[in-house]
Amino acid sequence: PRIAVFASGNGSNFQALVEAERAGLLDGHIGLLVCDKPQARVIERAARLDVPVFSFRPRDYASREDYEAEIVSRLREHQIDLIVLAGYMRIVTPVLLEAYPERIVNIHPSLLPAFPGLHAVRQALEHGVKVTGATVHFVDGGMDTGPIIAQRAVEVLEDDTEETLADRIHAIEHELYREAVQLICEGRVRVVDGKRVEIDRTA
Ligand code: GRF
Repeated sequence: PRIAVFASGNGSNFQALVEAERAGLLDGHIGLLVCDKPQARVIERAARLDVPVFSFRPRDYASREDYEAEIVSRLREHQIDLIVLAGYMRIVTPVLLEAYPERIVNIHPSLLPAFPGLHAVRQALEHGVKVTGATVHFVDGGMDTGPIIAQRAVEVLEDDTEETLADRIHAIEHELYREAVQLICEGRVRVVDGKRVEIDRTA
């Protein structure tokens, strides 16, 4: 499949996926970066890695639906089959969801359904959980609510700050995301009843 990564900021997950593809670890091709922040670091990464970019400023459009319609036409031009959100800080509307049903995934820095939304790492620390982690899931109309594809746990340490814990979660995200996207590329991932994900692990 042909993949578009959507990102708003740093882009380390984007870069890790491109490098995985080039190392032969991904049976898909990252054909486009979509970015809503023309100044973001991820755009420099894409330039360096020679990945085409569509960047836009949301305020140049009358509505979310308007810029998403434009995104959909760019995705079609690049024949994109799968959308991978990696630090894309925007709510996705039905325009995109209906164009790519069960074809949009996201990574979130907590063990969902715990701590959805913004500042997941801070929420976990404030709650005092002893284990948190990262989740890859399909995107639906809710906030971090779609069917879960993969999760990995990270222990919370006594002296963790938001920064140290976020760093350790980040470090496992790259591998977790690559593995999950690869399972999708291999056609092993199936959503059952719009709710639960089944993974075919047969050889
Ligand atoms: C990650 O922590 C991811 O879980 C969250 O946004 C962050 C993106 O990091 N959705 P990066 O831009 O890929 O470095």
